[in-house]
Amino acid sequence: MQIRETTIDDAENIKEVYLQAFDNSEAHIISDFAINLLNENHPVEIISLVAIENDEIVGHTALSPVFLENTYEHFGYILAPLAVSPKFQNNKIGSSLIKYGLDAIANRGAFIVFVYGDHKYYSRFGFELDLAKNFIPPYTLKFPEGWHALKINSADFPEGGTLNCVDSLNDPNLW
Ligand SMILES: CC(C)(COP(=O)(O)OP(=O)(O)OC[C@H]1O[C@@H](n2cnc3c(N)ncnc32)[C@H](O)[C@@H]1OP(=O)(O)O)[C@@H](O)C(=O)NCCC(=O)NCCS
Repeated sequence: MQIRETTIDDAENIKEVYLQAFDNSEAHIISDFAINLLNENHPVEIISLVAIENDEIVGHTALSPVFLENTYEHFGYILAPLAVSPKFQNNKIGSSLIKYGLDAIANRGAFIVFVYGDHKYYSRFGFELDLAKNFIPPYTLKFPEGWHALKINSADFPEGGTLNCVDSLNDPNLW
C-alpha cells in the first residue's frame, strides 16, 4: 500500500470510495465534501491524501486549516473526511492515512488537529475529548461526544474559541 497526495484526476475514484464506505444517506454529503475540498482554493494548503493498492485508490483523507473566529489565527487543522473501501478495511489503511497526515502537519509546525468521529477509533491516535471541548465548531454538533483534538508539537496554543473552517466545511449537514 502506498500513500500519495491527491490530484484533481483522482476525484471520481475518491468519490467512489466514499459512496461505498458510507452506505446510507450520508454517503453523498460526505463524498461531495471530499470533492469540494479537492477543488477548494485556499491560501493555506489543504492536505489531501489517497491510499493506493495495486494502482487502485482504496482510501482517502484530508486535513484542512482551522482558524480562530475573532483573530483569524491559523492554529490548527481538521482531519476530515476519512474512508477506506469496504473490501480493504481492517488492514491499517485508515491508520496509515491518519499517521501520514499527522506527520505532514508535524512537518509544518505546531498545531492542534481536530477530528469529529468515533472515540473508540480516534483515541487510538491520541485524540482527546477534553482538549476539544473549549473549541466551538462553526455549527452545532449532532454528536458532541465525537469532537476530539490532538496537539502536534508544542507551542503556546489558544485554550478555546470559536472556529472558522474552509468553505467546503460550511455546511451544517457535515456537523
Ligand atoms: C473508519 C475507517 C476509515 C477505518 O479504516 P480501516 O483501514 O478499516 O481501519 P484500520 O485498519 O486502521 O483499523 C481497524 C480497527 O479500527 C476499528 N474500527 C474501524 N472503524 C471503527 C469505528 N467506527 N469505531 C471504532 N473502531 C473502529 C476496527 O474494528 C479495527 O479494530 P482492531 O484493530 O481492534 O481489529 C473505515 O472503517 C471506514 O471507511 N469506515 C466507513 C466510513 C467511516 O466511518 N469513516 C470515518 C468517519 S469518522
